[in-house]
Amino acid sequence: MLLLRRILPGRNYCRRFSTSQSHLSDRKGLVLGVFEKDGEGHHLTEAAAGFDQSISGKLSELLKISGPSLKKGKSRLFYGLHEDFPCVAVVGLGKAESGFCGAENLDAGKENIRAAVSTGCRLMQDLEVKRVEVDGCGDAQSAAEGAALGLFSYDQLKSKKKTQVTTRLHGSADATGWAKGLVYAQGQNLARLLMEAPANHVTPTAFADIIEEKISAKVTVHKRSKAWIEEQQMGAFLSVSRGSEEPPVFLELHYRGAPDSAQPPLLLVGKGITFDSGGISLKPSQSMDAMRADMGGAATVCASVVTAAALQLPVNIIGLAPLCENMPSGKATKPGDVVIAKNGKTIQVDNTDAEGRLVLADALSYAHTFNPRAIVNVATLTGAMDVALGSAATGVFTNSDWLWEQLQKASVVTGDRVWRMPLFQHYTRQVTDSQLADLNNIGKYSRSGGACTAAAFLREFVTLPHWAHLDIAGVMSNKDEVPYLRKGMSGRPTRTLVEFAAGLTQNG
Ligand code: BES
Ligand code: ZN
Ligand code: ZN
Repeated sequence: MLLLRRILPGRNYCRRFSTSQSHLSDRKGLVLGVFEKDGEGHHLTEAAAGFDQSISGKLSELLKISGPSLKKGKSRLFYGLHEDFPCVAVVGLGKAESGFCGAENLDAGKENIRAAVSTGCRLMQDLEVKRVEVDGCGDAQSAAEGAALGLFSYDQLKSKKKTQVTTRLHGSADATGWAKGLVYAQGQNLARLLMEAPANHVTPTAFADIIEEKISAKVTVHKRSKAWIEEQQMGAFLSVSRGSEEPPVFLELHYRGAPDSAQPPLLLVGKGITFDSGGISLKPSQSMDAMRADMGGAATVCASVVTAAALQLPVNIIGLAPLCENMPSGKATKPGDVVIAKNGKTIQVDNTDAEGRLVLADALSYAHTFNPRAIVNVATLTGAMDVALGSAATGVFTNSDWLWEQLQKASVVTGDRVWRMPLFQHYTRQVTDSQLADLNNIGKYSRSGGACTAAAFLREFVTLPHWAHLDIAGVMSNKDEVPYLRKGMSGRPTRTLVEFAAGLTQNG
């Protein structure tokens, strides 16, 4: 209070505090960034400096006297500084010269902006400020991503909801970057919504309906029925859906964005198990609820197609999502059963909990029928992937150095990292050793190298020279590792997939 009295002219001060309640709920907030300076003090961003100037240097004066210089990720709130912005959050962006960091394999400058802006916007949300202007911090796309990702929370099913905050760019610098960042973040938020929502709400049918609702005119949707799946002889996919009362759906999205509509498409394939109980090889009940997000591959893939269409990327993309539940019942597949995949290969299902590779086997075989330039499949495939990398990065298994480079380049920009994993024959030998069939759905030494044997299994359904399998089990959920995502299902790596697709347009 004293601080404010000293700085504000009395008249303004009084007027502000006599404001009516209804006016208060409509007050605007401002989020500004500051960089760390070598030694003491701050280096204001362009927008923060402009704001400071408009109030005769009061912001820098306050920053000086209100505590130690703001370090990366730290924030400070000021009230009553400006007539238009009763609340101002100043957030620490780290060093101004932060950029690509080889050791971390990401652009630290962008990542710092996302984290800082997210912190500032959440402070505003806690204060129930409904309209917030945000400093572009020199990279408006990253700022928009931080704002929209940071504010997201899944509270649709709660009576008490968080304040709805609308954000806009402060000033006019790089409005295009800001708009693009919002679209990228909205894509990831769509995936988060689908993953976080309970499995009794997001059934295979409901998933397909939600995506159909979000899709723009440039995308064709096919919701393939069980009869179609049978016609396609997708015996592996059907064997997983058999234990559930919910009918399976094979979702197919066609986005034609390339000027040449005959341009070979990018095929994105996502594992869509809307609930994975393990089937007859039932999972332990502890944390089984998290298996509502076992459609994270389908969610991120479909959200990426929606986003690519919203951005009007000049590329053709086909998204495929085999959607079903993995449940135990009298009709369910039993350990030791043999099923026949679409490509004619026989599979001994020794563990019904290794179901992701079964639904993907058929979807991958089908993907080849579109003469694709590349196939990328995304799946919450193995607990072993989480053991290997945790939530630091998505594991990428690929037969293509070119595809690896494209994915890795994209992930440096988005901060949603990837890490290359091996596809050795060593692992193939473990899945082609089956007593009854061509393949076994679990590796011979079951636990060892589980993420790698799963990838080797998938490769048995691929003939294309440019294929990548992304195991996202480790990045499926967020506790507090990614500072700009709240606790919950992460929607990762949607932005990396979109950035990757956008990169393909530049690569011919
Ligand atoms: N959906 C799970 C993998 C998973 C685990 C994803 C934890 C996210 C978090 C998958 O279907 C599964 O159960 N895999 C088994 C394979 C095993 C039976 C060979 C696993 O990882 O234990
Ligand atoms: Zn499973
Ligand atoms: Zn699963």
